[in-house]
Amino acid sequence: MDNTITAAKAAPLLLEWYDRHHRELPWRVSPSMARQGVVANPYHIWMSEVMLQQTTVQAVKAYFEKFLALWPSVEDLAAADNEDVMKAWAGLGYYARARNLKKCAEAVARNHGGHFPDTEEGLKALPGIGDYTAAAVAAIAFNRQSAVLDGNVERVVSRLYAIETPLPAAKPEMRGLVAALTPADRPGDFAQAMMDLGATICTPKRPACSLCPFRPHCLALSVADPETFPRKAKKKDKPLRLGAAFVAIDARDTVYLRKRGETGLLGGMTEVPGTAWTARQDGDTSVAAQPFAAAWEDCGTISHVFTHFELRLSVYRANVARAETGDDGWWEPVSSLKAQALPTVMKKAIAQAIPDAFKAER
Ligand code: ADE
Repeated sequence: MDNTITAAKAAPLLLEWYDRHHRELPWRVSPSMARQGVVANPYHIWMSEVMLQQTTVQAVKAYFEKFLALWPSVEDLAAADNEDVMKAWAGLGYYARARNLKKCAEAVARNHGGHFPDTEEGLKALPGIGDYTAAAVAAIAFNRQSAVLDGNVERVVSRLYAIETPLPAAKPEMRGLVAALTPADRPGDFAQAMMDLGATICTPKRPACSLCPFRPHCLALSVADPETFPRKAKKKDKPLRLGAAFVAIDARDTVYLRKRGETGLLGGMTEVPGTAWTARQDGDTSVAAQPFAAAWEDCGTISHVFTHFELRLSVYRANVARAETGDDGWWEPVSSLKAQALPTVMKKAIAQAIPDAFKAER
């Protein structure tokens, strides 16, 4: 028997699940609030969706509350000082998002009378709003029947239909399936329900299939191991880049950190001093590449895989006096590194030089 779910069945099943099991999120109008007549605030929905790109729900909550306390309306954000916005964003990473957030608020305040456009097309014309954000805001804030596809939703549909085409080639097929499933009634809740299902039940590892409203209809569960979906294209070997990172520690157990340039990979994020990362295999990654003279000790190498290349960093450490480093950075206590928004590659480099730097007991 073919148990493939029909569009007419999928939405009621999922919405019934969502009514009981949705996550409470500070920007979200829950089904019970909606029944009492509360409507979504497009400014809140847009802000949360921008913050949620590349950042977890858990981390976003506090930032969302802080931004709304500082700038309660889109006009307030439009009028805010750029530097204040960047400061409030510090720690969320990917600072281009903060710059676009500000530009978008200005466009909405100046060109749209403070009202977000209520269609996908209109939203997409704003700075920093791409296909995903436009669809999500149109659906969640304006109840448009938009197909919202993020990583969670891709996983859910790939399993529901046991899609054999690997990602990313499968995206158009997935989008078509999500479009067909999305109901005219409560499309915003449907989109949020798909995301919640992906985040809480249909997880990448060890999905909780026994709790899933789609269980009787899930092709992946009936034909194979759901965990093996979505299929992914075989990874090509990535080119190797080399570099060196220098972890300077002073007598007060603080390390020397700098801010990376605004443009390029990890733009504006925190780093330890180091060389450029070069594809040249004969580049100098020895102590000779030191940013300042010190008794550098070789701590070995770490590697980190970025989207387009693998990086191998030679890591050095030295005990230094503050005066030796120059003044392009700042000193951070090792004990507070855990709370810093450090890129993973920098955490690896620091942990290579100071093995207990990120341990809980620090
Ligand atoms: N992830 C990104 N946007 C989301 C939303 N609106 N609800 C749940 N998870 C999300």
